[in-house]
Formats: sequence, C-alpha cells, structure tokens
Amino acid sequence: MDDAPLLQTFELSKRYRKRWAVRDLNLTVRRGEVFGFLGPNGAGKSTTIRMLLSLIKPTAGRVELFAKPLHRNRASTLRRVGGLVERADFYLYLSARRNLEIVAALRGDGSGNDIDRVLDLVGLLPRADEKVKTYSHGMKQRLGIAQALLGKPELVILDEPTSGLDPQGIKEVRELIQRLSGSGAITVFLSSHLLSEIEQTATSMAIINQGKLIVQGRVTELLNAGPGMIRFEARPLDRALEILKASPLVAGAVMAAPHIECTARRESAPLLTRLLVESGIDVHAVVPRRTLEEYFLAITEGASDVYIPDLSSPAPGPWEARA
Ligand SMILES: Nc1ncnc2c1ncn2[C@@H]1O[C@H](COP(=O)(O)OP(=O)(O)O)[C@@H](O)[C@H]1O
Ligand SMILES: [Mg+2]
Repeated sequence: MDDAPLLQTFELSKRYRKRWAVRDLNLTVRRGEVFGFLGPNGAGKSTTIRMLLSLIKPTAGRVELFAKPLHRNRASTLRRVGGLVERADFYLYLSARRNLEIVAALRGDGSGNDIDRVLDLVGLLPRADEKVKTYSHGMKQRLGIAQALLGKPELVILDEPTSGLDPQGIKEVRELIQRLSGSGAITVFLSSHLLSEIEQTATSMAIINQGKLIVQGRVTELLNAGPGMIRFEARPLDRALEILKASPLVAGAVMAAPHIECTARRESAPLLTRLLVESGIDVHAVVPRRTLEEYFLAITEGASDVYIPDLSSPAPGPWEARA
C-alpha cells in the first residue's frame, strides 16, 4: 500500500467579503482512511468540502488530489471522486433506480452499469423501483450516498451524512460507512459536528474551528492525548475533595460545585470511586472525559477563550512522576 497522501490541502483559504470562512488549512488524507472532519456549525466544513469538490474556487491555497493539483486536472481527477454535499436532491416521483440512471447518463461514463451494485451497497436494492417520495429520510440519504458511489470512486466525500437523521438512520449510515471502508478499496472523507460520530467511524480526524485547523491525527492517539479528566459528584463535597487531592492517582483536583474536576487517568475512575465510597462518601456521579472531549465541548458550547491543549504528544502525566 502506498502511503502518499490521497488528498492534501495547502494553506487552503476562502474569504467571503471580509470574513475568512476557511483560513490556511493544511489537511492530509491517506488512502484507505475514514477521515473525520469535525467542527461546530459555521466552522468552515462545507466551504472546505466545496473547494475539495471544485464547486467553489479557493481565495488562496490549493488542493492536491491523487498527488496532482486539482485546478489543473479537474475533470480527470473528479471522475475518481464521489461527493454528497448537504442534502441529496432527487426526483421524488421517480424511482431510486430511475434517478440514478439520470445521474449516470449526465456523467456519461458508463456508470449506468453500476446502478445495481451501488443500490445493493446501501441496502436499497429491494426497494429500487419504488418512488423516492415513499422513502424515509434515512433511505434518501443512503440513496445520496449511492449516487456518490456511482462509477467506483477511490475517494468519497460526504458532508454531514447523518445530519437530520433519527437514531436508526444514523446507525444505518454509520454501518454503511464502516462497510465501505472495510472493503479497503475506498477512502472516505466525512464531516460532522459531533465528536461521538467521528469517534465511532473515523480512523483519522481533523478539528476545525472558525475556519482554522486545530489539530489532526489518528483518532485513537488524539483521543488519548493529554491528561484525562474525571468529574465527581459526591457528598460531602469538601471531604471528597480532600480525599481525592491526597490520592497518588490524582494530579490535581478543584472544586467546581456541585462537582469536583479531577485530573487523573480515565482508568483510575473505578479505584477513585471505591476510595471515596470506602471513606464514607456518597458518590452520585462519575464522568470520565478525555482532554479532546473537554476541548471540543467547550468550543461547541461557544466559549470564546478556550484553552487549546497540546494534543500533539501524549502529555507525561504528573501521576507518573509521583508513583
Ligand atoms: N456563500 C457564502 N457567502 C457568505 N458567507 C458564507 C457562504 N458560505 C458560508 N459562509 C460563511 O462561512 C462560514 C463557514 O460556513 P460553512 O462552511 O457552511 O460551515 P460548516 O459547514 O462548518 O457549518 C460561516 O460563517 C458561513 O456563514
Ligand atoms: Mg456545513
């Protein structure tokens, strides 16, 4: 397997009037990955995706796909890419199959022979001849993904594919993405404003906020980077704080009534809970969190001065020094 990036952006930027929607974005996506592009609403995800699909022109910077500049090889490159931006639009009074036949005819690349395959992939083959208007929202979304898969693209770019779906629809789309990437033949780039979703499907990820890259890397590494946090709700709270502070497993603990924010490894949660209970404390809640989770929650909730943890390398825990 070659490890050269399949998709790369270089200082990719887009300005609308005076405002930068995307600024100096450097992304690297490798073959075979499910790449999660995470950011709160308005972060610049759709704008970036439109530039990746050459639907809008960057103000500055560039995109390389399959190791070639996109702007110089637009047609030949985009034939190898499938995309779903926002909601898929279909003719509601035509069947799913007929809709895909129209898309394939517009492409003019013989992908009409591919229709059964993509319908089967997204689980719509048994209902392919029913009118799209009889479809649930989740089925329409899967049909949108089927459309993106026509012609066997090497890269599929999906903009918030689960947005607006109910839990069952979300599950179906998630399983579909896992199935697609499991085959190994396809690289998936998908955006979301939910960390949990990226965590469940992606192998690598990037976080953007206000048009700028915050961090990118392997999902497992990023989620485990930085010190962990555990939030305890217990009574009496001040006594619990004393006990936690005295534990060698705890790097620091602060009162944030009605709970305590404790810096400690997530894995320490059961031991610390037991310690509290055995000291006669009533424990009402224990919520372990990763640094990235804390950070992402803070930016999603709109905090303006969020501390950006150094997620580039797993921080050596103070608990190690003390052990
Ligand atoms: N066509 C446009 N004209 C002006 N501003 C736009 C346009 N498209 C997006 N923006 C602005 O760019 C920023 C990023 O938007 P967008 O890429 O849609 O974010 P996301 O997809 O992450 O929610 C937002 O502030 C949005 O208002
Ligand atoms: Mg968007």
